[in-house]
Amino acid sequence: MRKNIVAGNWKMNNDLPQTESLLQDLKKHVIPENVSVMVAPAFTNLFQAFEYLRETPIEVIAQNMHQSKKGAFTGEVSAQMLKSVGVNTVIIGHSERRAYFNETNAILAEKVSAALDSDMQVIFCFGEELNDRKQGEHLEVVNAQLEQGLFHIEESQMKNVILAYEPVWAIGTGETASPDQAQEIHKYVREHVKRAYNTAIAENISILYGGSVKPANAQEIFAKPDVDGGLIGGAALKAEDFMAIVNAF
Ligand code: PGA
Repeated sequence: MRKNIVAGNWKMNNDLPQTESLLQDLKKHVIPENVSVMVAPAFTNLFQAFEYLRETPIEVIAQNMHQSKKGAFTGEVSAQMLKSVGVNTVIIGHSERRAYFNETNAILAEKVSAALDSDMQVIFCFGEELNDRKQGEHLEVVNAQLEQGLFHIEESQMKNVILAYEPVWAIGTGETASPDQAQEIHKYVREHVKRAYNTAIAENISILYGGSVKPANAQEIFAKPDVDGGLIGGAALKAEDFMAIVNAF
């Protein structure tokens, strides 16, 4: 059985006191047993967040990592560094990393391997831009992202992968893919995973939707059979909103 997952991507928001205050608000809520809840604060606050949430079921995850084990990569953070502060899951391939930091499918493939080889879990993001959709090329774009960035990994490693479909035109724009649009892609991707690997892997992999998910639309989106949760940006910055989304299954 695949898991329901709601992960909050805080992006470059919240200094340490703000992080503590948001975590304190989150801690006031009961986490339902049918959902895995994750939060991704900035690198600087990961350790404190981990300590803070130690007694809770909320997992602290990272927004990015470097593909090398260590070395002269100024400003970067490795898998081992993340693991040493209690982080065992990392988001890879977010569209902001692809667009603003030139992370190509080839670089992302290396990052995926580096994380999985370090026994970390990966949330692999993919999704088309508005222009791709207008030209009817969204399925090809999504295919290429999966084939070039993810499908090189071994069958045995796929159990540590979570997928996140995030149409770029829906991220931070207030524009959400309709539940049917999300379902169409999720189903398509699950079929693709089945072809590339096998039925068991395809049925067990969680596929999250991301892009302007909020309390008002989460329930309708999560109700779709191939949507197993959400990757939440803006609405993850308010405990009330985030928890309303967590409770939307
Ligand atoms: P958003 O961001 O919820 O603010 O659209 C989603 C994401 O980037 O993961």
